Parts: sequence; structure tokens; C-alpha cells
Amino acid sequence: MSDQTKAQPVKVNDNAEGVDRKLTNYGDPGFSRFLRRAFLSSAGLDTEDLSRPIVGIVNTASDYTTCHRDMPQLIEHVKRGVLEAGGLPFVFPVMSLGEILTSPTTMLFRNLMAMELEEQIRAQPMDSVVLLGGCDKTVPAELMAAASADVPAIALVVGPMSVGSYKGERLGACTDCRRIWTDYRGGQIDEASMAEVNQELAPTAGTCMVMGTASTMACLAEALGMSLPFAGTAPAVSSQRLRLAVQTGRRAVEIGAADRRPSHVMTAGAFHNAITVLAAIAGSTNAIIHLTAIARRLNIRIGLNEFHNIFSQVPHLTDCKPAGSNYLPDMHRDGGVPALLKTLEPLLDLNALTITGESMRESLQDQSPPQKWQETIRTLSHPLGPTGSLVTLTGSLAPGGAVIKAAAASKHLLVHEGTACVFDSLQDLAERLDDETLGLTADHVLVLRNIGPVGAGMPEAGAIPIPQYLAREGVRDMVRISDGRMSGTAYGTIVLHCTPEAAAGGPLALIRDGDKIRLDVPNRVVDLLVEQAELDRRKADFTSRPPPERGWQRLHATSVLQASQGADLDFLQ
Ligand code: FES
Repeated sequence: MSDQTKAQPVKVNDNAEGVDRKLTNYGDPGFSRFLRRAFLSSAGLDTEDLSRPIVGIVNTASDYTTCHRDMPQLIEHVKRGVLEAGGLPFVFPVMSLGEILTSPTTMLFRNLMAMELEEQIRAQPMDSVVLLGGCDKTVPAELMAAASADVPAIALVVGPMSVGSYKGERLGACTDCRRIWTDYRGGQIDEASMAEVNQELAPTAGTCMVMGTASTMACLAEALGMSLPFAGTAPAVSSQRLRLAVQTGRRAVEIGAADRRPSHVMTAGAFHNAITVLAAIAGSTNAIIHLTAIARRLNIRIGLNEFHNIFSQVPHLTDCKPAGSNYLPDMHRDGGVPALLKTLEPLLDLNALTITGESMRESLQDQSPPQKWQETIRTLSHPLGPTGSLVTLTGSLAPGGAVIKAAAASKHLLVHEGTACVFDSLQDLAERLDDETLGLTADHVLVLRNIGPVGAGMPEAGAIPIPQYLAREGVRDMVRISDGRMSGTAYGTIVLHCTPEAAAGGPLALIRDGDKIRLDVPNRVVDLLVEQAELDRRKADFTSRPPPERGWQRLHATSVLQASQGADLDFLQ
């Protein structure tokens, strides 16, 4: 197809301001403006209202997203801030992705949400937009959309839940959910206790309060400069969260006037800072995929080696589950992301612009480093753990890369050679994992394939449960390998995101029961110890599965990139 015959994207009138932006196309701009005013006056808006800049507010509240239960209250406070600063708030709904009530996985829909929001920002008049999110995929989807639309944007999350307690022990979603479930499978907890614990794991509105994916992305939005200081960690139920909402609304009007766009804030330096924070918080492995995807929307390429270069320089500084013992409200009490950034100052790009208009250097000028009593955030001279909390791997099992959260793995398994037991799908896993005739031992390596981006939309199934009969014997960890993801709240010696994935014909597709696998985290290697000639023979027998027949799932399976490229759709970058 020649350039002349290629379809061109529809152009919108973006020189106008406020309500006159992006006119509906009737072929008569004057009529469009006239009609727009008629319908907006039906909504109770007068000439004075319509002379104001418009701030779009993304509403991702949904009964299916329990973490966003308090979002309506947050929206009211953002609106107040917008009005106080002379703007006109317009709330609009965008699909909401709640982790627990979405099948088969929210990751399958992250790109759909990003695409929907990008088009809504492009299509509707707004001088700036407030990205309200929280639950795992909502924040990356919103940042991807904002990056592509490149309209001034500011992020605000709903904030973490408060911590629950059971018989004197603090607990919360979802690291403790997994630990308690493992104990239940191992026969250490009875049904009655499970019912009681169940009421305490998610005791308030807000996102999971460990350093899972939601908390990680909230901290990274702050480190990227896309949200206000302390917005990443202030508890969902705190008055500070409400004050942050008002301040975010005011700031949204200011960034619109200043034309401060995501491309001005999310620069290569900002991603350097975000990856530095990711390493220091031993955050979710999912953030590696999300940051890669957001950056690629801005034409910034971050490969696994770039992640490694930063991971290998930054020690583990925050003491939050699953790679620690505390929770997000503790981190907030101890100074939140600003205190952490102050500690990390020598490792940051201090010229990076933040959403306030200040550079990172300026925003940290008056910030104190964590004091002695602030134990959840450590200093570079007294870290909680060594560098390399997250490790990117390569090797014959994952030539395109894989990742492991070393800070949440068992030390004795970081170098391990074991015999593979292979599960072909989630169905296969459910049917056979607890079958004692498999004769598994703690030294086996559990392999789950066909759960990569193409194969299954990349569910968080990489934290394969310990077989029940081994759990009863007290086994709490084994080496587990997949082309899927795991929840940021999960822990164990778990290799994830193997690339190329099995459905794309990667080496994972060629493993057979009984093969030997060697994991060597210090040397960043995961190898399949099978002769190349034998692998070539197996490869000749490989046939790929057909994609889903229709709809979004077909578009996703036929367009999605591999994990190391951010698992975005190839035509959205
Ligand atoms: Fe929503 Fe964990 S389920 S943040």
C-alpha cells in the first residue's frame, strides 16, 4: 500500500480550549459549538462555567472492584479541588479492572482499558485529566493511555487498605492470604479459623496493603513524578488521602494551563528513578512488564539488561511483605516514597521533572531522610537486604529473558538443579498437582506452560501451589517456572515471564517430564539441561495452538507482544 492510499488517523481540533476542544464533526464547527452549549446548559452549566478549563476525572469505581469502594468520595474531593482552582470537572467512566472478580485475569484486559481510556481522552474535550485508579492493572493502563494521548495528566490512587489482625497477629491481603491458604492445605488450620481469618484479610476499602502490584505501581507513579508526594502510600481511609484528592484536583488545573504533559514528566530519567525505587522496595515483578509497556508508549526502550543494571546497584530498603514484615501504612508513617527517594538521592536522576513543575532535586530539597525510629524505610548505609532484590535471568530455558524476585525466594533454592514435572495448562495443573502417584519431592522443579501473553493472557498463576502431600510434610517452597506472572503479593522461588513463551514455540514448550533444569540466580541463569539435537527433534513436533475465534481475545492473542517487550499490543506502541 502506498503512503497516499494509507488511512490517516482522524485529526481533532486541539488548538481550542475548554469546551471548544475536539468538536463533534458535523462539517460545521459553528453549529458544533452551538449544539454543545445547548446540551451542556441542559446539565445546569452556564456561560461562566463553560469559560473554565475542563478537567476530566477518570472514574474506575465498580462494585466488581472492591478495592475502589471509596472512589466516589475521592472523586468529590478531586472535584472540589478543580472548582477551587477555577476549573470545571467532568467525571467519566472507564472500564474497571478488579483483580479478584475478573476471569481469567485482569492482565488480559490491561491493554483494552488503556486503549479505551486513550481514545476517551482523545475524543472528549479536556484540558487535563486526573487518572483515578488503584487495583493492580488500573494504574499501568492509565499511565499507558496518558502516555499515548499525551494530554496533561496527574495520577491518584485510592490508597492501601488498613491492616487486619487475628489473635494478636497483624495480617492483610494478600501475602497473608497465601500463607494461610498454604497452611490450610497443609492441614495446620481448621475450617472455623479460616472463616474467622477471612474477615480480617481485607478489612477496609483500598488496595492490598502489602508491597504487591497495586502498592508497587502506586509508589512508582510517585517516583515517575506523575502523582503528588505521599500519594502512593497514604492509607485509603485517611484524611490525608482526601486532602491529596483536593490537592490533585487543584494541580490538575495548573498542569492544564502549563501544558505539562506526560511526555514531559515520564522521561528516560523518570523511568530510571522508578526502576531504582522498584529495586529498593523489592516490588512486584509485574512492574517490570508495566514499566516496559508505559515507556514504549513514549518511545523509550527499556530492556531486561537496563533493569539489571539498576537492580544490581540498589539495595533492598523497605521492610514490607512479601519481602519483609510490615505493611504500606507502616511505610507511609515512616515517610512514604518521599523519605525513600531522599535516601536514594545519590542514585536518582535529579533533573527529572515532576508533576508539580519542580525537578526531583527541588522536590527533595526540604525532605528529611528516614530517622532511626522510622524502621520500615532503611538507608543506603543500613539496608534491609543486598542489591538484586529482583533479578532478570536468561539461559537456554528463557533466551529472551525471565525474572525472579530473589528477595522473596528461599536462599537454599537460589542455586538448584532438579527434575522437571511439567503441566501443560492451568486445567492440567488443577487435575494432577495433588496426584501422589507423580511421586514429587521438594527437589523437583514444577513447570507450568502455556500461560504467557499469547497462550492465556498471562494470568498470575506462576506461584504454583505446593502439592498438598508435600505441604503436609512441611514443604513450603520449591523451584517453580512458568511463562506466566505471579501476584506481587506472592513469594517463593518462582521464575516468571519465560520468553519466548511456550505458545510462541519457546524452549518451555519443549521440556518433558524428567528433564533436568538448573537455576543459578547469582549468575542470572536458568538452563534446560537437554542436548540441542534432542531439542531440535522436539521442536520439529511442535505445533502452535489456534488463537481464540473472535472478539477481544482473538485481537489480543494475535497482536500481543512478549513479556520482555511489555506485553502491549504491537499496534499500540
Ligand atoms: Fe485490588 Fe489487591 S485485589 S489491589
